[in-house]
Amino acid sequence: MGEKKKESKKYTERGFLDYSDKVIELFKNPKNVGEMEDADVVVQEGDPTCGDTIQLSLKFDDDVISEAKFLSFGCAANIATGSILTEMIKDKTVEGARKITMQEVEEEVGGLPPVKRHCAVLATKALEKALEKALEKHEEK
Ligand code: FES
Repeated sequence: MGEKKKESKKYTERGFLDYSDKVIELFKNPKNVGEMEDADVVVQEGDPTCGDTIQLSLKFDDDVISEAKFLSFGCAANIATGSILTEMIKDKTVEGARKITMQEVEEEVGGLPPVKRHCAVLATKALEKALEKALEKHEEK
């Protein structure tokens, strides 16, 4: 005996991870959740390592994103980053939205625990995919 007990991480009401207040707020009350019947583009992006997926639906007014909605099939950080992304891209042009980085998404949710940084990557990858699809559709016209 006398051996020091290994400190285990404490489980709090937020779980084992140190999520920011903003992540918790958006996890509890995400914005722009759902499907969009008249969307111009709908994409899904997934992360094979964690199995989480995000669906992003966009509607355009010329080259401006007039509406953005998301559906999360994932973790709290997936929900928070999906939610903030839809707010960040609204009323942005395609070019403006393309400049949004995963670091900016992470910053907007008040930072993410290291093991959850890929959730911001997933959200921005979904955005890239949606914008590419929108540009392809535009070129086909
Ligand atoms: S754990 Fe993979 S997107 Fe959050």
